[in-house]
Amino acid sequence: MYAKTIAKAPLRLGLAGLGTVGMGVIKIVQEKADLLALRAGRPVEIVAVAARSKGKDRGFDLSGYAWEDDPVKLAQREDVDVFVELMGGSDGPAKAATEAALASGKDVVTANKALLAHHGQALALAAETNNAVLRFEAAVAGGIPVMKALTEGLAGNGITRVVGVMNGTCNYILTRMEATGQGYNALFDECARLGYLEADPQLDVGGIDAGHKLSLLASVAFGTQVNFDAVELEGIERITNEDIAHASDMGYKIKLLGVTQMTGRGLEQRMTPCLVPNSSPLAQLDGGTNMVVLEGDEVGQIVLRGAGAGMGPTASAVMSDIMDIARDMRVPTFGQPAATLVEATPAVAAAPAPYYLRLELVDKPGAMAKVTSALGDSGVSIDRMRQYGQDENADVAPVLIVTDPAPRASLDAAIDAMQSSGVLVSDPVAIRIEKV
Ligand code: NAP
Ligand code: HSE
Repeated sequence: MYAKTIAKAPLRLGLAGLGTVGMGVIKIVQEKADLLALRAGRPVEIVAVAARSKGKDRGFDLSGYAWEDDPVKLAQREDVDVFVELMGGSDGPAKAATEAALASGKDVVTANKALLAHHGQALALAAETNNAVLRFEAAVAGGIPVMKALTEGLAGNGITRVVGVMNGTCNYILTRMEATGQGYNALFDECARLGYLEADPQLDVGGIDAGHKLSLLASVAFGTQVNFDAVELEGIERITNEDIAHASDMGYKIKLLGVTQMTGRGLEQRMTPCLVPNSSPLAQLDGGTNMVVLEGDEVGQIVLRGAGAGMGPTASAVMSDIMDIARDMRVPTFGQPAATLVEATPAVAAAPAPYYLRLELVDKPGAMAKVTSALGDSGVSIDRMRQYGQDENADVAPVLIVTDPAPRASLDAAIDAMQSSGVLVSDPVAIRIEKV
């Protein structure tokens, strides 16, 4: 039976980008050729490649592949069935070559979250107009098959919420801050030495890379057009060791957390530092690993955990899309026809939630009373409160408060009132607590 199906024509790949992910794909195609052919029912072959420097030693034999200097020419080659875009960048050659491939009716597989977060809707429409598919499993949470889970495994569910840690670099920094007591700057430098950071590190620590991923998840989960500009973004640069230690004292971990849900107030998309309870699966996530929690109205909660980056894991996800195409499984880019994706109204404010507040008060009679009345006057109720002892000579009293669920606007009004009352000696820290 296999011999009969393997008689089908090979699926011919043109691969642009021979860096970490590109070489991972070449390794799989070369080393697992027989396995892939059996599973796909046809051989999967690379026919041509492109990168910037032709002469670079990449540790693999590329002599059997045609070379193109120009990724657009590669995308248009007659002998290429699938254009595999692994160069990166939201515009430039990645966009030009992807558009050229789709216009020529070729299927495209990409790991490029920036490209799709900015141009996903137009590219998905172009794919469908040209009877091609555009797939991006590797773009979200690296090796975790989250797009497959959403578009196939959970196709019978209404998705109610997607939550996750989707940037390994930020999770590495935050968990190492807690484990070692080292500061943010030292760990940022360590990430640079380990090669974890994107070429522009702000994409990682500013939450932008993870925000790109969240916008793609939201589109698939809720049948909406990708709208990265509506993602509320905040990075991890302002998180201190004090925040991490005090949050831990109160039973929480700090994570750069992505949350998207459709509410009566519109589509919520947030990628911001949040506290999660120690009992949450997300709290157990150490180092550079990713976790995505999917909630469906039929299935309940699904937790997916795994490597969010790196050669093997990311290439594994790219191959998943290639194998689907080889098997003639043609799922629309965002899980339903692009023309049916709606333009969602962005939620103007996040749903009410409990907040963690860290305050430094002047150590004078009545200071705490002013804080509690500022909260009470704004309709924010206190769930728990703790005051720390201070150095004998210091005249500052550190205070931690966990509120009951409240709208962020009410909390901000309370903070404004505290600031005007003159009892704070530094800017307060307010972090949302997400129940997962
Ligand atoms: P990388 O190691 O920097 O490799 C990029 C490759 O693209 C290089 O081979 C480079 O050529 C080639 N390239 C860049 N500009 C080009 C141009 N103008 N024309 C032709 N080739 C060009 O990047 P990567 O880490 O493999 O990432 C590739 C994509 O996967 C990105 O979209 C990234 O966001 C995504 N991704 C990566 C990971 C990961 O763990 N690395 C995880 C998930 C998603 P030279 O080698 O000649 O310089
Ligand atoms: N810079 C990303 C991360 C790589 O740290 O998770 C994978 O997208």
